[in-house]
Amino acid sequence: MATYDLAIRGGEVATGFGTARCDIGVREGRIVALAERITDAATEIDASGLLVLPGGIDSHCHIEEPARGSYGGPAVAEPPVTVQEESFTSASIAAFAGGTTSVVCFVPQWRGEGLLPRLADYRQRAARGMLDYSFHQIITEPTDAVLEHDIPAVVAAGIRSLKVFLTYEPLHLNDAQYIKVLTAARRHGCLVTVHCENYDAIGWRTEALLKAGLTAPKYHAWARPTVVEREATHRAIALAELIDQPIQIFHVSCGEAAEEIARAQARGLKVWGETCPQYFTLTDADMDRPGFAGAGFICSPAPRGPEEHANIWAAIKRGTLDIVSSDHCGFSLYTETGKAQNGRDACFRDIPNGIPGLAARLPLLFSEGVSKGRITLDEFVRLTATNPARLMGLAPRKGMIAVGADADLALWDPAKKVTITNALMQHAIDYTPYEGIEVTGWPVATIRRGEVVMRDGKVQAEPGTGRFLPRGPYDMVRPRGVLPYGFDAAPPL
Ligand code: URP
Ligand code: ZN
Ligand code: ZN
Repeated sequence: MATYDLAIRGGEVATGFGTARCDIGVREGRIVALAERITDAATEIDASGLLVLPGGIDSHCHIEEPARGSYGGPAVAEPPVTVQEESFTSASIAAFAGGTTSVVCFVPQWRGEGLLPRLADYRQRAARGMLDYSFHQIITEPTDAVLEHDIPAVVAAGIRSLKVFLTYEPLHLNDAQYIKVLTAARRHGCLVTVHCENYDAIGWRTEALLKAGLTAPKYHAWARPTVVEREATHRAIALAELIDQPIQIFHVSCGEAAEEIARAQARGLKVWGETCPQYFTLTDADMDRPGFAGAGFICSPAPRGPEEHANIWAAIKRGTLDIVSSDHCGFSLYTETGKAQNGRDACFRDIPNGIPGLAARLPLLFSEGVSKGRITLDEFVRLTATNPARLMGLAPRKGMIAVGADADLALWDPAKKVTITNALMQHAIDYTPYEGIEVTGWPVATIRRGEVVMRDGKVQAEPGTGRFLPRGPYDMVRPRGVLPYGFDAAPPL
């Protein structure tokens, strides 16, 4: 019997903390050796001329979430029977095509329900895919039962992050509710991830825009300018400081919000910031494309003016924003459960928010970042794999090339030039907002736990082989122990 199941030979291995030309030996799905020369493997992959990177971890993906009544559009009273078009199976194919091997997606909470039935439902749904996965538990109604019974049960089930929205009808929490969630998270050792936009301000501006007859997709951006993101980011951080609870600010779109995070970090708070490729590749002008095409760029926060791209790169480079996720959303442009669910002439308020990006995330960041010299290869690895693994409590099993880690790897041709098309995304969605963008650098093979699941664009993986990644207590989310007047209103258990 061979010593190794698989050897990846002759590649330039990037660990996030330096690169080295070496071979990687894999046994039973794990990396067991890094050496100058590895022989005696049942299968060998020649990686010469290629980069060998950790498989991407996308820590912000919406998969099979309710298609209606969540992220824009009229409120829906009935339970979420219709889900977005991207299934866990099709999302896995897209992810592998783009060099990603693990995701952290979401378990929704429908108002009027507790958390546990939906958790069981999403465990089952995700188990049909091929990606390794964990969840953020969305909290939209922090009742006593949810706080005292359901959250501890969710944590016991291996989930360590709670997601809250400070906007969206009907998901948004007011300050008192947000404080309750922060408190529960502190007690039970969870990260809180936050969508930061001011609900009332957006509602007020939306009403005024609609009254003025300004209904086209481009007015989505007018309804939620940067100031509403900055204000909510500031508030989210201030309240987290009051409770001494670590938080991550999701999908930062502008310099003003990044500055709020930078100030908090400079004061030693446990506040992290994430951004997404839409905020350095798309602009508000994309929502002004003819006909219904502009709807394909509606996401929240909205893509900003081109001047914000430089601000986002600066915040990435400084480390203020240390994770780049996709915020992938499975809405097609022209279907009844997608963007056009309220018709192709729907006003911007009634078009669901969110765009697909699972397959495009890594090539866009590689090309715009590494190939154009804005970030180093090590920074790329940290932004897309190591940092999400650490912040989500998945390290050291995920997100790194090290002995003992899962053999999740992506082989990249750094010189390969590709023009992004929807077909290349391999998702179940009828468009990509990144159509026509030329990138330099492309993943040519993806390996999940030692199994080659993508080679030259061909994805081959058995549905149902993705694994749940249970998360235990971890250091990143431990409170700092710094409290106003030293009074602990919510002592950890
Ligand atoms: O527009 C977006 N981002 N949709 C997905 C839900 C969210 O806000 O993350
Ligand atoms: Zn959000
Ligand atoms: Zn999201």
